[in-house]
Amino acid sequence: MERKKKMTISTLKKMKKDKKKIVCLTAYDASFAQMIAAAGVDVLLVGDSLGMVIQGHGSTTPVSIAEIVYHSQCVRRGAPNALIIADMPFLSAANIDLAVTNAGLLMQQGGAEIVKVEGAGKMISVVESLSEQGIPVCGHLGLTPQSVHKLGGYKVQGRDEQSAEKILLDATKLEEAGADLLVLECVPEQLAQEISLNISIPTIGIGAGVYCDGQVLVTYDLLGLSHGLRPRFVKDFLAETGDISSAMRKYVEDVRNEKFPASEHSFS
Ligand code: KIV
Repeated sequence: MERKKKMTISTLKKMKKDKKKIVCLTAYDASFAQMIAAAGVDVLLVGDSLGMVIQGHGSTTPVSIAEIVYHSQCVRRGAPNALIIADMPFLSAANIDLAVTNAGLLMQQGGAEIVKVEGAGKMISVVESLSEQGIPVCGHLGLTPQSVHKLGGYKVQGRDEQSAEKILLDATKLEEAGADLLVLECVPEQLAQEISLNISIPTIGIGAGVYCDGQVLVTYDLLGLSHGLRPRFVKDFLAETGDISSAMRKYVEDVRNEKFPASEHSFS
């Protein structure tokens, strides 16, 4: 059932402490946002994955800040009480001034409460500035899809010792810079577990195993709507349940009970 009380970042942090799993799904429009909230999902992500699943691009890089603002507005209308994370799309946080301006648009016009930025390195000072100005930030490490051309494809990250150590260190730096949440995408389950134990902010995994503090999926994947090769971490909950609301509720239940992701959805 849709929550009556508004979800907050403090509640998410308490959920981590209490070892209660956080459930997140992507949303891009009002109708899905309403259904997702009604299924009991804690956090809605207006992801730049909309570039692929809505707009039909081959990657997320063509997505603009205006498009994320537009879709955030749609999601906000559908789920007035939801906690919404909005993605900072490719190059929209390339320097501190640009990041502050664009994060402001996502919050003031889009109605989001948290902005998500991919990567570390120069992004650490961006996260620090956003956080100092009262903008909640969700970091994103591991496979960062906006860097797909630099990474040479959608590949699991952090499999060797050196890159695993770097992701662990970057997670610590993001927390120190003021990030409130951290998405871990396509990293080995053991690495995600180590990161989740080493930082105090909640980790939200996608292709990062069951030990993260929460899980996120692209809603279209959960409903078996995505075309092309299905990544290992995706599960079609619609095939198992037969209708959209039940599929969303089953996802919530399976994440809460640590039944999803299973080992067949995770990387080692
Ligand atoms: O854009 C998106 O949907 C995301 C999730 C895959 C985490 O960043």
